[in-house]
Amino acid sequence: MTNCTLNVTLIGDGAIAKAILERLTNHAKLRITHVVVRAEKIAMTQAELEKISKGCTAVSHVPESAALVLECAGHSAIHEHVIPALERGVPCGIVSIGALSDEALVEALSRAASQGGTQVHLLSGAIGAIDALASAKLAGLDSVTYTGRKPPLGWKGSPAEDVCDLSAITQPTILLRAKAREASHLYPKNANVAATVSLAGLGLDHTEVTLIADPTITENIHEVEAHGAFGSFKLEMRGKPLPDNPKTSMLTVLSALRFLENQTSPITI
Ligand SMILES: NC(=O)c1ccc[n+]([C@@H]2O[C@H](COP(=O)([O-])OP(=O)(O)OC[C@H]3O[C@@H](n4cnc5c(N)ncnc54)[C@H](O)[C@@H]3O)[C@@H](O)[C@H]2O)c1
Repeated sequence: MTNCTLNVTLIGDGAIAKAILERLTNHAKLRITHVVVRAEKIAMTQAELEKISKGCTAVSHVPESAALVLECAGHSAIHEHVIPALERGVPCGIVSIGALSDEALVEALSRAASQGGTQVHLLSGAIGAIDALASAKLAGLDSVTYTGRKPPLGWKGSPAEDVCDLSAITQPTILLRAKAREASHLYPKNANVAATVSLAGLGLDHTEVTLIADPTITENIHEVEAHGAFGSFKLEMRGKPLPDNPKTSMLTVLSALRFLENQTSPITI
């Protein structure tokens, strides 16, 4: 915790990064000083940044001055930027949790953070109750299940197209029942929530995942059910997109803002 302004570097210039930049304009304690993008996009991103966040510079690598890094880009950015930053001792937050379905990457992150004497924070993103799940794990979990439901067209471009005719189904249709490791591999666009629930709870090889195409719903629904020594819980989340950017889940952006706020606030929750 610091009383000074915290200089934050964002990795990525997509939907989540832009929403964070817009919401942190003129923040009293947090300043996004740099946005890391691919080298060929620097000029274009810089022009966009002038409109959203004055004083913020597009760069191709995390600068030496970064006090905190927030990744909102994807798997390759974790290798290229997060790991070197951790090795230099810069704490990092990650939203692309689906990338951590790759165990080698989890080990590489852990090694880099240990080497730098810092920590990597896995953000809860679009799903809730990660605090309850990770706490419950300390006394032992018996089972954790994750069910992801989307309207049929939300599964377009995925292996679901080989399971059923997405434009013709009239009943909720199970696309996959598998352990989280296989589910993340087959449905990478659904991997963020499955991986987050797994990492907080029973791991990728013991978390049961069910994916459903449901023509009776209009929004994405995440359900998590956990049983263990602590008792049990059932969570149902119906996340909304950001009003100004339907491509981004509102809660993922808010979870990133909460993470950043907690770095400078005298009380964290
Ligand atoms: N944890 C969650 O619940 C959750 C929810 C939604 C999205 N996500 C993840 O957050 C990430 C960002 O999502 P988004 O909606 O903003 O995506 P997006 O596609 O709008 O933006 C990603 C941006 O990152 C940039 N990028 C990719 N690799 C890069 C690299 N190596 N170096 C620099 N820039 C790079 C791309 O050019 C792109 O502009 C994705 O990985 C997505 O899967 C996580």
